[in-house]
Amino acid sequence: MTRIRRLPDHLVNKIAAGEVVERPASAAKELVENALDAGATSITVDLRDGGSALVRVSDDGAGMSAEELPLALERHATSKLPTDADLDAIATLGFRGEALAAIAAVSRFTVTSRARGAETGLRLAGEGGAIVQRLVVPVEAGTTVEVRDLFFNTPARLKFLKTSATELGATLRAVTQLSLAHCAVQFRVAHNGRASLTAPAAKDVRERAAAVWSWPIAQRLVRVDRSEHGIRVHGFASAPDLTRGGRDDVVVIVNGRPVRDPALLQATLAAYRPLLSRDRFPLVVVSIDMPAADVDANVHPTKAWVRFRHPRLVQEMLVAALREALRAPDVVPAMGAMPSATWSGGSTAPTIGTPSAADQHALFAETPAPYAPGVFGRVLGQVQDTFIVATTDEEVFFLDQHVVHERVLFERLEAEVAAGAPPSQALLFPETVDLPPAARALLERWRPMLERLGFAFEPRPGGALVVSAVPAMLKGDEPRRLLEAAVDELGGPKTDAPAMERALAFVACRGAIKANTPLAREEMERLVADLGRTGTPYFCPHGRPIVSRVSMQDIRRELKRTW
Ligand SMILES: Nc1ncnc2c1ncn2[C@@H]1O[C@H](COP(=O)(O)OP(=O)(O)OP(=O)(O)O)[C@@H](O)[C@H]1O
Ligand SMILES: [Mg+2]
Repeated sequence: MTRIRRLPDHLVNKIAAGEVVERPASAAKELVENALDAGATSITVDLRDGGSALVRVSDDGAGMSAEELPLALERHATSKLPTDADLDAIATLGFRGEALAAIAAVSRFTVTSRARGAETGLRLAGEGGAIVQRLVVPVEAGTTVEVRDLFFNTPARLKFLKTSATELGATLRAVTQLSLAHCAVQFRVAHNGRASLTAPAAKDVRERAAAVWSWPIAQRLVRVDRSEHGIRVHGFASAPDLTRGGRDDVVVIVNGRPVRDPALLQATLAAYRPLLSRDRFPLVVVSIDMPAADVDANVHPTKAWVRFRHPRLVQEMLVAALREALRAPDVVPAMGAMPSATWSGGSTAPTIGTPSAADQHALFAETPAPYAPGVFGRVLGQVQDTFIVATTDEEVFFLDQHVVHERVLFERLEAEVAAGAPPSQALLFPETVDLPPAARALLERWRPMLERLGFAFEPRPGGALVVSAVPAMLKGDEPRRLLEAAVDELGGPKTDAPAMERALAFVACRGAIKANTPLAREEMERLVADLGRTGTPYFCPHGRPIVSRVSMQDIRRELKRTW
């Protein structure tokens, strides 16, 4: 039997390093975090071969004295927890006193530092955790850590490194996230001598987002800012028509630390949920600021995960803050040019609709709520029997009446389905509908969803279907045409939307008032007021804008008015 033995330090360090340093990106992240903790105003990262050949991070922070420097490379040596109690309210990015030791244990390293106020700097160099060189050097105040040949002495780890492009991507993501969390600090990242990220000191997150995501994108971000229960959620989020195919640009920062928190990611997506299809993701950078004692970063060696004292509250705050931001009018893209439309505005608005048309739409079937001017202000009239025009003091809105009504009906149905069943209209004379076998099979598959929405149909021997009820919202529609349309719609190209949502969208679209339908003023007012009360008045369930707006400011500018 083998004897138990105490592992030598160099082996302990190597093992521990495995937890902290998974890949070049983790080394870069740790070094940049150290620079930020040191109060740097400028941080430069140089990479070679995706970081596996070289990660070098230089900063102009506080630096380390000649006495401190060797200590920094030891395990469990940190300047960041002066008292035991500090662990309960961590205010720095680092606190474990482990990163430098871990990185040094699995690389050929050089650490050069000069403390502010010191005459000269000191350089320590070595490999595999052992210092082999000590040099006094004339350098600027600040610190440079060079990490070469990461994992040169841990071949198993080395094997797991991906291509240089993949590692570079991971490193850029890590540094980008930190740069979004600390926008007053200048960041420069170069790969094989070429600049890959240049972010000058920024005055706010939007400016920083412009450096990392481009200016046109930054301009389309809406501000998020909500404080409650001692928690502040602030930052920027993309309008739902600005999306990505992946979730890399959802950045959640907790007390200055970008975190990986599946629940917060889910919360973010939930806030966008009705607006985005499953395969699209928003661009979001939100900081959640809260008392340090309410969040524990000491959960995982990489410090990327945190634990909250009140996780639900934090998730709800995030959803509320994002929803609020997505309801703000600046979510709507402003139109560049003046609209050239023929008006039927003001008192000349045509009066409406034949009674039969009125029967068709749930809109008209209900007692109108008293109209209160909401987000879209006053209704002016209708253009081309298709667009409703409304205005506030600051903006003129063009609303697509069909899409508006669809949005309203969709949310109403959704609420009704959640509450039980939406009103269903039994047919006085059940209707027999002949459908091809494929169509019958399709309806059979969708039956649970369709029944929850108020349909009732039964197959008859011989292949026909007998329809005995339809959603009240669609009672004006001919049952046969309705089923045919359902087959067309639900049998169409698959989207990622959940089945119930697709069925809902079908009914909402079918029930909604069509384009080229003249509306009375009260009907328009009702529609616009209803839209203003929906959860997401600016976009349809698929992220298409419902509203287009022209700002009066632009009009004044264009017409050279000075008031
Ligand atoms: N760029 C730097 N500028 C100034 N001091 C630094 C720098 N990097 C490291 N140090 C000093 O070295 C110490 C050890 O760094 P190290 O990253 O190993 O641990 P830490 O940051 O304290 O904790 P963690 O392991 O969680 O990162 C730090 O506490 C800090 O005092
Ligand atoms: Mg550190």
